[in-house]
Amino acid sequence: MDISRRIARSQPLATTAMHGRVDAMKARGEDVIDFSIAISHFQAPQTVLDAVRQSLHAPLPYTDVPGDAGIRARLAAKVVEENRIPATPAEILVTNGCKQALYQALYVMADPGDAVIIFKPHWPAYVATCRLLELQPILIDLPAEMSDAFLDSLPPARILIINNPHNPTGAVLSGVEIDSIAAWLKRSGTRAIVDESYEKLIFEGSHVSLAARPDWRELGIVSLYSASQSYAMMGWRAGFAVAPAHIVKAMETLQGPITAAAPMLVQQAMAAAFESGEPEAMLADYRQRRDLVLDLAHGLPWLTMRRPASGPYLWADIAPLRMDAVQFSEQLLTRHRVAVMPGDALGVPHHIRIGYISDDVATLRRGVQAIIGFGASLYRPD
Ligand SMILES: Cc1ncc(COP(=O)(O)O)c(C=O)c1O
Repeated sequence: MDISRRIARSQPLATTAMHGRVDAMKARGEDVIDFSIAISHFQAPQTVLDAVRQSLHAPLPYTDVPGDAGIRARLAAKVVEENRIPATPAEILVTNGCKQALYQALYVMADPGDAVIIFKPHWPAYVATCRLLELQPILIDLPAEMSDAFLDSLPPARILIINNPHNPTGAVLSGVEIDSIAAWLKRSGTRAIVDESYEKLIFEGSHVSLAARPDWRELGIVSLYSASQSYAMMGWRAGFAVAPAHIVKAMETLQGPITAAAPMLVQQAMAAAFESGEPEAMLADYRQRRDLVLDLAHGLPWLTMRRPASGPYLWADIAPLRMDAVQFSEQLLTRHRVAVMPGDALGVPHHIRIGYISDDVATLRRGVQAIIGFGASLYRPD
């Protein structure tokens, strides 16, 4: 039987495809180091595990589609206290991870053909989701600063997607930049989806939510959260959206026939995660790993990495190698059994993304040394 034209036009996500490929190699008994995505070596916080154990003693019913009322109230309290977003429980919708929230937000906020601005390098899911929904992604280089002049130069669009903190550069928007974006939303009438999935992984600086203002509803801001990265809960599939109540209602209409509500157990786990405070031990571990990789790669003439202010990735410019990053990543994987993500998958060639939070430190060191050795074997100075 034929598949629909709609899905035939689409490709699997580059990131999950690469991860799947690595898993298949591992299943064949190959010793592969996977830096292509960021899968934490940490477990969920202890309070999450305790909450789940506790929940198993009671029935686990279907909940309301946007989430159990008590859970939505706890998540609303989190965004009010931590993110300073004046939201009510009716403005919270629980999903199976940020990806589902993103799909549903785009689905209900835009119609086929509408333009969506995405800054590159970008998380591949933004573009893939736009394509699935027949929206038109407009890729714009991430600026050094979100100034008024830059924002005014953006093309007309229905929605702007902001990823703050940013995957893969680790950039964290300042309060001044956030104010500029809010003022531009008002001037231009553009709506915003803000993905704050990395809000707990900040090494330097502090995170300000775009929706932390009394007029967030009028501005049409939808904020997305996830326990995946902030609490090392990738496989739990726990996320939620904060949106004006009519947007939550529309997302509910979409979600109902697809998954109904997120599993009650996951809802309990996520509420416990976001009540567990800052993941300090995890952050300290990530910081040490980030600094280790930067030290190992310091001074290489063919690779440049900035020290990221947040997140589980290093974003490396390998343009001096004069080998395209897809080829580099392919050969690195087949010859040296190390997987990285070529920047092309994130909209920017001549870069690779290194996720540095999996496995133990010795493996991290071994993998980075393999990258350095491979790059050195290719590098030909002028
Ligand atoms: C930008 C961004 N948003 C969200 C997520 C998390 O998505 P999910 O909650 O679906 O695991 C990730 C990946 O881990 C990401 O890189």
